[in-house]
Amino acid sequence: MNQLGFLPFVCISVQVVKHLEPFRLSLEKLKEVSTRLRKDMIRGLGKHTHHRAAVKMLPTFVRATPDGTEKGDFLALDLGGTNFRVLHVRVMEEEQKMVKMDSQLCAIPQEIMLGTGEQLFDHIAACLSEFLDSQNLKGQTLPMGFTFSFPCEQKEIDKSILIRWTKGFNCSGVEGEDVVKLLKEAIHRRGDYDISSVAMVNDTVGTMMSCGYRDQTCEIGMIIGTGTNACYMEEMKNVKRVEGEDGQMCINTEWGGFGDDGSLEDILTEFDKVVDRTSINPGVHTFEKMISGMYLGEIVRLVLMKLTEKKLLFKGEVSEALRTKETFETKFISMIEEPDSGLENAKKILTELGLTWDLVDARVVRLVCETISSRSARLCAAALATIVDRIRANRGLPHLKTTVGVDGTVYKKHPKMQLSMHFLAPDCKIKFLVSEDGSGKGAAMVTAVAHSLSKHPHCMMVPPLCFIVRND
Ligand code: GLC
Repeated sequence: MNQLGFLPFVCISVQVVKHLEPFRLSLEKLKEVSTRLRKDMIRGLGKHTHHRAAVKMLPTFVRATPDGTEKGDFLALDLGGTNFRVLHVRVMEEEQKMVKMDSQLCAIPQEIMLGTGEQLFDHIAACLSEFLDSQNLKGQTLPMGFTFSFPCEQKEIDKSILIRWTKGFNCSGVEGEDVVKLLKEAIHRRGDYDISSVAMVNDTVGTMMSCGYRDQTCEIGMIIGTGTNACYMEEMKNVKRVEGEDGQMCINTEWGGFGDDGSLEDILTEFDKVVDRTSINPGVHTFEKMISGMYLGEIVRLVLMKLTEKKLLFKGEVSEALRTKETFETKFISMIEEPDSGLENAKKILTELGLTWDLVDARVVRLVCETISSRSARLCAAALATIVDRIRANRGLPHLKTTVGVDGTVYKKHPKMQLSMHFLAPDCKIKFLVSEDGSGKGAAMVTAVAHSLSKHPHCMMVPPLCFIVRND
């Protein structure tokens, strides 16, 4: 630091703050965003408006949350990020707990993420085969839940058509196809084992269901990880695309697609636009690209580049690493924001990125990280407030007390969104329950609830599971 002490930081930060201004969303603006989402959700649920809606509001055919009496042994498959997992889960009624008996992880290499659907499902089927062998489970037919964390048009619980890939996946020949059918075909190509029913689950639903086993007031599931999304229990009478008026159904909102019709144009920054343009799916999942782990680091990198070009950082010298796409990992943001060691972490990270920094630079970088993660948290809070308030209004209640099951590393590292909720949904009291392995155990729970519902006398059997309840 020079003789002027902290003065240079103050001077520079005024200009830096100006550049960061577009990321700062006022409470008023967030309320506006929430109102827009509310309208988009109604559009997504409508029979005639759904096909044009940016927020898809997909029926999941999950009609009940757990009541704590579920039990049995299940296989859970989980695909949603760079790994595929198979789990053997035991649900024990007496102790009301789910135990992961064993599990196996298989990496999904980049060439498979961007290869053909056949390669992807062959890889999954091979991983499943290995697991069944290791557990001596071949020959047994355990009910199976498949957490497939992409937007799917579910026809029934075991028929799920992929609408489009998100989060870095782009396997050919899968969009528009039934994922269960592709999995079964891959298993038949091998011929060394077979499976029976498969309940398809989005990770938000898995999270809601696994938290719902612990806390029966949980009726919302939210993910802020590689991607972002939420599901909630909607009144059947509002789900216009599914027959029936009674009871409830879980809706996978796919809120990541909010803004794909241009409705968020006023809050998109020049950096968001670059992130979108240079992604593998431009124009798709606009809201997700402002919030989730797959993109936050890249937004920070672009802002740092801009500030350096404006000579507000690193004496105007950009390093080769900083110039390279995706070198600023999202995990750096929470490391730099850590209350005690944040500044030290910033210094290490900047050195690793080949940058020559001073203390002022480190502080500016920290401010950039805080700004980007706060915007993410506030946008998520606005979206969650929309859902919570919708549940309240659906039930005609003046106040609602409810629980949200949450998962995802971005949430776990930045729980600050909770702070904004109070202002955005003043009539609702919300408890956040962090899910432990919602994607894995949740798939088992959905399968368990599906099985217990299928024994219900008012259920119409939709082989192999029951999900449509008749009024008669
Ligand atoms: C993406 C997917 C969505 C998933 C979310 C979180 O937004 O489209 O289905 O729930 O990521 O993993």
